[in-house]
Amino acid sequence: MRAELVAFLHPKSPASEAFRTLRTNLQFAAAGRGRLQVILVTSPGPGEGKSVVAANLAIVTAQGGRRTLLLDADLRRPVQHRLLEKSGRRGVTNLLAEAGREPEELVQPTGIDGLDLLPAGPVPPNPAELVATEGMRRLVEWTRDRYETVVLDAPPVLAVTDAILLGTCVDGVLLVSRAGQTRNEALQAAMEALRRSRIPVVGAVLNEVRYRGSDAYYYSYYYGRRREEDGRVLSGGHEAAATAQPGGGQGADSA
Ligand SMILES: Nc1ncnc2c1ncn2[C@@H]1O[C@H](COP(=O)(O)OP(=O)(O)O)[C@@H](O)[C@H]1O
Ligand SMILES: [Mg+2]
Repeated sequence: MRAELVAFLHPKSPASEAFRTLRTNLQFAAAGRGRLQVILVTSPGPGEGKSVVAANLAIVTAQGGRRTLLLDADLRRPVQHRLLEKSGRRGVTNLLAEAGREPEELVQPTGIDGLDLLPAGPVPPNPAELVATEGMRRLVEWTRDRYETVVLDAPPVLAVTDAILLGTCVDGVLLVSRAGQTRNEALQAAMEALRRSRIPVVGAVLNEVRYRGSDAYYYSYYYGRRREEDGRVLSGGHEAAATAQPGGGQGADSA
């Protein structure tokens, strides 16, 4: 289990608490819109914390007693198998590219109660084509029958079309930005791209907010870096906010 998985390694930390708040707020968002079973996590650009947020959200959801699948739909830069220290040799790509494969063969237990992983599998030459296939849609439908919550980790919205294509199979998108990195214009452009495709944004996460003071010490401590002097929070500063948008969000309902 890698250090980024704070929700598992440090369930009492403020970061884990923030993920539980996110979970709760998503439940409220769900109450307003009927179904929020399959959630896609994305962000405007690369390196903003999508994968770390997706993994921790999946963990707190499973800890909350819901049978949860973490599905690595970033076929370009898959990392979930590494975060969870599982094999990434076979996964979504195999299901989409090879006939006759069944998802249950490729789903792995994670060692965390109630949480399974479907890795991305080998990086294909044509990720956007693959996620746009009927097979992808069928895979998501398959997960709906077996899991109470499915969290998809996706590529960035602005760089490639995958996230938008995937967005059409899910119930809502959680949009991550990273404090001090994600530009406001990029966030606006990502929101606009999702809105144009009528994909509802059901929540927003501001990742890596930096705390000062005693929290900073705690985070530095568990991260194995004693850098109290600058108070920079590594992986601990997930400030999660799920905003249930009035009028049913940016997508399908309001358009
Ligand atoms: N809150 C955070 N604090 C410190 N490092 C983080 C945080 N969130 C993500 N990272 C690190 O930043 C890098 C990119 O995160 P990742 O989740 O893989 O981004 P993305 O999926 O958006 O490309 C990884 O090395 C990850 O461990
Ligand atoms: Mg990622």
